[in-house]
Amino acid sequence: MEILTKKVKGAEDILPSDACRWQFLEELMRDEAEKCGFKEIRTPVFEHTVLFNRSVGETTDVVQKEMYTFDTKGGESITLRPEGTAGAARAYLEHALYNDGLPVKVYYHLTCYRYEKAQAGRQREFHQFGMETYGAADAKADAEMICAANGIFDRLGLENIRLEINSIGCKTCRSSYTQALKEYFTARKSELCDTCLSRLDRNPMRILDCKNESCKKVAETAPVVLDYICEDCSTHFDRVKTFLDAADVSYTVNPTIVRGLDYYTRTVFEFVTDAIGAQGTVCGGGRYDGLIEELGGQPTPALGFAMGIERLLLVLKAQGIELPGTPTCDLYIASLGVDAEIKAFSLSQKLRSASIITETDIVGRSLRAQMKYADKISAKYSVVIGDDDLKNNTVRVKDMRNKENSFDAPLDEEAFLEVFTDKADLDGFSADLENIKKLLESLSEGSSDE
Ligand code: HAM
Repeated sequence: MEILTKKVKGAEDILPSDACRWQFLEELMRDEAEKCGFKEIRTPVFEHTVLFNRSVGETTDVVQKEMYTFDTKGGESITLRPEGTAGAARAYLEHALYNDGLPVKVYYHLTCYRYEKAQAGRQREFHQFGMETYGAADAKADAEMICAANGIFDRLGLENIRLEINSIGCKTCRSSYTQALKEYFTARKSELCDTCLSRLDRNPMRILDCKNESCKKVAETAPVVLDYICEDCSTHFDRVKTFLDAADVSYTVNPTIVRGLDYYTRTVFEFVTDAIGAQGTVCGGGRYDGLIEELGGQPTPALGFAMGIERLLLVLKAQGIELPGTPTCDLYIASLGVDAEIKAFSLSQKLRSASIITETDIVGRSLRAQMKYADKISAKYSVVIGDDDLKNNTVRVKDMRNKENSFDAPLDEEAFLEVFTDKADLDGFSADLENIKKLLESLSEGSSDE
């Protein structure tokens, strides 16, 4: 059955040859977030459907068209998370995280699910890294959030990405804008799709992010929200800009950004690129001051962002930025004979305990086949342990890239490790934490030199 070896459309495998790049990005993001005082939160892949209906919004594309919703055997309606903000907000309330003292700052790496038309940069299962802050109303919190996202792109050396910001006002000023949109779209009703016709009364702002071509065209000349925001929102927006200027973060104000989810208020922002085709928004976020109250909590200002890892990888590729590849084997230990086989095994355990990537035969291959395999996995060094070596308690360590750099080492585990660590040139990247940290440092040194 062919289907048994075919993945579901819109979902992608991350193969061993690529996983290292993901680990690198995840570590970099974790580091950026923790530097700003954010702590990791992990929430379930699925939540009660009503959570997303309430937070993301009944009239959004995500809720109306894209959610993976199903009834459990017990009759509950469950939805695979289309994004991370709602689940994090639910957890914040359920576990009373506000008791830890405000602001509460969390970050997450997660998979999301949206039933969209799959194409480059748009998948049905995709990955987000996100950060959320609860309990901070000041514009400095908006700037901190934007700077954190910007810091990630900066550290990666990305140049083909720009920050666009806007303010979409608060509940109060939103009503005059909604009225203006209603009038505008009512006059051009015939050009709207059926979904947007149903949005006209309930939430005309959602027409602005409809993906239908005709709706998009009408939306181009619609009134812009920035012209309708109240004085408080305007002051808040000016302060966000002041702090971004102070942090030397470049941005442009794009009055057409409204974001596709209902919970946003005031500041919204996107990091966009022209380098990866139609799906150019790599990161999006903003303030959502009404959400916590909407979910049953005390009025709590909040804000956040999420970036799509698949899109980020596409942008990196487009700019020719190489992330570290998969670590290769440092040492392959081949053996011939029963005693040698035992020695090879114990030696491999010793080396692994010192974080040296070590492989030894586990399938019963002939010596020739063992060496062929060592070549195939591009082992940097190899040794062959035979009876003579055991007798002499010495072994030849062969440099597989340059035979001239081969050297002898004692077979005793402790002594071998000492000589090997001293003489072997193990450059190249291994994904252990220390190495990732070193690489991060060199990346950030590189970007501050510019
Ligand atoms: P969003 O704009 O819907 O916002 O998604 C954030 C990012 O996820 C996008 O900028 C994009 O990079 C990525 N993304 C979205 N859909 C897909 C897809 N189908 N395939 C691949 N990547 C995708 C949110 O999700 C908000 N929760 C962000 C936020 C957090 N706002 C406040 N806090």
